[in-house]
Amino acid sequence: MCGIVGYVGQKQSLPIAVEALRRMEYRGYDSAGVAVVGENGIASAKRAGKLANLEDKIAEIGEGTLAGTTVIGHTRWATHGRPTDENAHPHVSFDGKVAIVHNGIIENFAVLREELERDGIELKSETDSETAAHLLAKAYNDGDTAGDFRASALNVLNRLEGAFTLLFVHANHPDQIIAARRSTPLMVGVGEGEMFLGSDVAAFIEHTKQAVELGHDSVVVINKDGYEILNFDGSGAEGKPFTIDWDLEAAEKGGYDSFMMKEIFEQPAAVRDTLAGHWADGRVTLDENSLTVDQLKSFNQVFVVACGSAYHSGLAAKYAIEHWVRIPVQIEVASEFRYRDPVLDERTLVLAISQSGETADTLEAVRHAKTQGAKVLAVCNTNGSQIPRESDAVLYTHAGPEIGVASTKAFLAQVAANYIVGLALAQAKGTKYPDEIAEIWRELEAIPGKIEQALDSRDQVNEISETLGAIKTMLFLGRGVGFPIALEGALKLKELAYIHAEGFPAGELKHGPIALIEEDLPVVVIVPSPRGVSQLHSKIVSNIQEIRARGAKTFVIAEEGDTAVEPYANWLVRIPQTPTIMQPLLATVPLQFLAADIARENGNEDIDKPRNLAKSVTVE
Ligand code: F6R
Repeated sequence: MCGIVGYVGQKQSLPIAVEALRRMEYRGYDSAGVAVVGENGIASAKRAGKLANLEDKIAEIGEGTLAGTTVIGHTRWATHGRPTDENAHPHVSFDGKVAIVHNGIIENFAVLREELERDGIELKSETDSETAAHLLAKAYNDGDTAGDFRASALNVLNRLEGAFTLLFVHANHPDQIIAARRSTPLMVGVGEGEMFLGSDVAAFIEHTKQAVELGHDSVVVINKDGYEILNFDGSGAEGKPFTIDWDLEAAEKGGYDSFMMKEIFEQPAAVRDTLAGHWADGRVTLDENSLTVDQLKSFNQVFVVACGSAYHSGLAAKYAIEHWVRIPVQIEVASEFRYRDPVLDERTLVLAISQSGETADTLEAVRHAKTQGAKVLAVCNTNGSQIPRESDAVLYTHAGPEIGVASTKAFLAQVAANYIVGLALAQAKGTKYPDEIAEIWRELEAIPGKIEQALDSRDQVNEISETLGAIKTMLFLGRGVGFPIALEGALKLKELAYIHAEGFPAGELKHGPIALIEEDLPVVVIVPSPRGVSQLHSKIVSNIQEIRARGAKTFVIAEEGDTAVEPYANWLVRIPQTPTIMQPLLATVPLQFLAADIARENGNEDIDKPRNLAKSVTVE
């Protein structure tokens, strides 16, 4: 997730771009850059780190060097390539005539890079994005599309695979920006004698309230007087004009009342982006410079270390990895790990999961694991942070910056990333046939669409929460992979609503916790799919009956078509059908809503910043 801005008009464009980037910084702050098209062609400035670093750079070279009325800008959340000056956007083509900014992932970049290198073009960065700049310059300089900016841009866009937003400028066409989106966001702002582009409307809301929404696969050509929308094949297309009725603060939250709510709705993209690029030629792939196939083959046990929600994602991974890979997986709260003297050796894979990459407990666990000779693979959302830096390898989640303190989209992205690791292990060790892995991958790829459906539970959960009345405590029950979901649901409620909540394996209830059940106590039950291993399903239905018989009120999460649970649910929230192992990616969603709604009912209006909590816990 990166922030993108563009402007064509009559004013000096640099200050407009810098202001717009400030509004986009929530989308990434690994680096920032601008490219202005002026009388002398393209001039650009970029720098690693926050926008303030770019401002320093502009001050060093002088604003005058970046004069012009057309600009593109970018604030980066690093995916391919570290957060360095070279990897910052914009990228300029070999002939200096084209500049591009990019959000998303170009999945076939390796092939494109090879092609460019064969042509003698030297790439300056490690990014997938840079290829687009050179391809456009090539298409503009030679062949059928020579001299035609629009035809050259379409030619390049049709060669790219993946999800992307791209903005192109060309020195010979100083009054134009050509932009495209495939799945990732792009908004057009319509001013008087000026036009804007942004990853969201916050980029231009202080200049205009008139905006245009583009379809998923759209190209837009803008100049100061207007815009034209095209399909990727060059035929005409329509956008949806609308008037923005948010103020700036609301716009930054995408119209939601909190960052957390916005982030919950970003979960389909977080999972989609995390999966992107990890399936090629019928095989699961880890990132370049990750663990080798031989290393993956050599592991005979896995230890997962993580804290809080990240720990819960790891617990889900335990079920998946043991099932797919048939090696033991132990999971340990990171703060306990090194004090327990766990038995590790060079055949142990330690999976260290952390959104921030800075959590002290997890970092210390990583250091301890390395001293014992284990190999550490970090699953992390923050490029260049300490945990991936000290690990042997890293698999990045692509959830984008998570601003709400309580983890939502990062958690779902962690589950997805952990499953990628599980499949890579199964593939390397041959514990699953290729067609079985392909089938699981297909199920994973269907998940973002199913999360969209799970998000439809928003209003229903809100209505339920209003009927719950005063709650003293709440229990969450699950079995199998439903247990980590129960723990995550309980943690969200504690964090946001300040209510005592506990998650249990449903079968454990009768060994003690059932004593807590009293009249009207709300109990959340996550029900596994009745398809597949239905043994667990019937067991949990019995558990629901046990608690109902003692007066509890049940909030049941079950998949579409599961009619067996209907008689036992006071409230029934449906999620799409999916193999049970994938349920954490769906059933967590209504529980996030539930926690946010009960928090509000209890008077905690600022769910983005729950009391006593910090987003990144850098002390042990
Ligand atoms: C819960 C939450 C925390 C974090 C935990 C680990 O909503 O956000 O429990 O999951 O502090 O943080 P990271 O993933 O940054 O290591």
